[in-house]
Amino acid sequence: MFSFFKSQQSKQNRIIEFLSNQVAVDIHSHLLPGIDDGSPDIETSLLLIEGLQNMGFKKLITTPHIRMEVYPNTPTIIREKLADVKKATLQKGLNVELDASSEYYIDDNFTELLQNEEIIPFPQPRYILAEYPMIAPLMNFEQRVFEMTKRGYTPIIAHPERYRYWHKTPEAFERLKDLGCLLQLNILAIEGYYGPDIKDCAKYLLKNKLYDLIGTDLHHERHLGRLKKLGELNKEMQILENYNFKNKQLFMDV
Ligand SMILES: [Fe+2]
Repeated sequence: MFSFFKSQQSKQNRIIEFLSNQVAVDIHSHLLPGIDDGSPDIETSLLLIEGLQNMGFKKLITTPHIRMEVYPNTPTIIREKLADVKKATLQKGLNVELDASSEYYIDDNFTELLQNEEIIPFPQPRYILAEYPMIAPLMNFEQRVFEMTKRGYTPIIAHPERYRYWHKTPEAFERLKDLGCLLQLNILAIEGYYGPDIKDCAKYLLKNKLYDLIGTDLHHERHLGRLKKLGELNKEMQILENYNFKNKQLFMDV
């Protein structure tokens, strides 16, 4: 019995070691209370932040949705919420570093925000986390990328493995890279959380070294639970441990 618990513990430590040593910075999550489909209140925000800290993260750049019809957030709303949460984490004695940007849904409204420079980019030089539609591809996705790059932004494409319409034409992912985008893996894709086809696509993108960054896309406690379970999957952990994600390099001490 004792050895069973011991081995469970070491499996969990494996994911903690990976996140703490090889990732350190989470660049995609929904931790600010009441402004998107992530944390509903400050208590949950604190619980999720503590959970991510316990999983090994040293810094969290949280990314509430901005999608005008559903989540009409603004840089001001996000900065105010961030200040509230930072204060609460200090009161609670949590010592994870917190910052915020946004996960931008790419549509006409986003183009308008770009034109008016009403963007909350990453705290480090001009990165934008960009989300594409899930159901069908944007007809002009190359033009949308160009709109960002010509203004000096580097697009980080959120969870490309989840865009099923490109599973049979993976050259679309290479095209995004050629256009100057970085690709971000949702870590739970490799755990199988989003389904086997998305897991397969994530494995393909890992094998072909097309990802640059990794993120949790954490919305709620269930995601934390699945993240812990990932530590038990030997093959998947091996793939992650052998990959060079740039989270630390790009976002830790700058
Ligand atoms: Fe997200």
